[in-house]
Amino acid sequence: MFNTQRTAVITGATSDRGIGETVARRYAREGWAIVILDLDGEKSAKVAAAIGGEFDVPSFGYEIDVTSEESVTAAEAAVAAEVRDGNLPTVGALANIAGITSPVPFLETTLELWNKVMAVNATGTYLVTKAFLPGMIDAGFGRIVNMSSVSAQRGGGVFGKVPYSSAKAAILGFTKALARELGPTGVTVNAVTPGAVDTNIRVGATAESEAALAASIPVGRTATTEEVAAVITFLSTDDAAYLTGATFDINGGSHIH
Ligand SMILES: NC(=O)c1ccc[n+]([C@@H]2O[C@H](COP(=O)([O-])OP(=O)(O)OC[C@H]3O[C@@H](n4cnc5c(N)ncnc54)[C@H](O)[C@@H]3O)[C@@H](O)[C@H]2O)c1
Repeated sequence: MFNTQRTAVITGATSDRGIGETVARRYAREGWAIVILDLDGEKSAKVAAAIGGEFDVPSFGYEIDVTSEESVTAAEAAVAAEVRDGNLPTVGALANIAGITSPVPFLETTLELWNKVMAVNATGTYLVTKAFLPGMIDAGFGRIVNMSSVSAQRGGGVFGKVPYSSAKAAILGFTKALARELGPTGVTVNAVTPGAVDTNIRVGATAESEAALAASIPVGRTATTEEVAAVITFLSTDDAAYLTGATFDINGGSHIH
């Protein structure tokens, strides 16, 4: 229980079998208060309450569309009000997990699809980080962990294609440049690059494609959401103060570089 004085904010954390929900659960298990931000406000509040109740930590959930500055500002204001009222400790960690993928081949993509995938993954990470960062700088402590993907490093090859790989690569550049700028502030910024994780995001994947995928991974299987969450919560600890601007591969050896 090393984090009872801090709140972790997690975006994209209500999906059944998703990474974000496991990350929120793990933060709570480690003693963090949690805030879940996702598209459906009611579901966010419900999932947060269930996790908060299970681990006896303060928990709130709000609606957010990470692509909308107005929505992001409103969600941050709701969290700030709970902090001000003493219902939540100060925000110490932000996990930018919300994301969408797309398996559409390049020449079949539309500008609309490109914009949407860039908006949720890259612009969303930018907007949410910008909203929560001032409080972290004021507190002199912050841990920002951004969700990229092995697709950014090896050019897709799992499920997502060009727009997804581009958006996840943007997140790597964002992470590195922001980490450099925030060096002296006590706020670290890192990225994780999972390979295939066993969630519902790869809609349309078949049993055959999943088997071929597993066979292509040296460890012989996809990652569990818990294995991804373990890295994210570690990067949020006091022990991780000297890790910043780094990219953490969680890919079972599928991309060794
Ligand atoms: N599953 C994998 O194999 C894998 C691998 C590498 C990276 N990732 C990344 O991990 C993250 C989580 O993936 P997952 O597999 O749990 O997917 P998921 O689809 O189960 O979860 C994504 C979550 O993001 C939320 N979301 C989508 N658009 C949003 C928006 N505009 N505003 C707020 N929330 C929004 C969804 O509601 C959902 O809760 C994504 O960023 C994904 O790209 C996944």
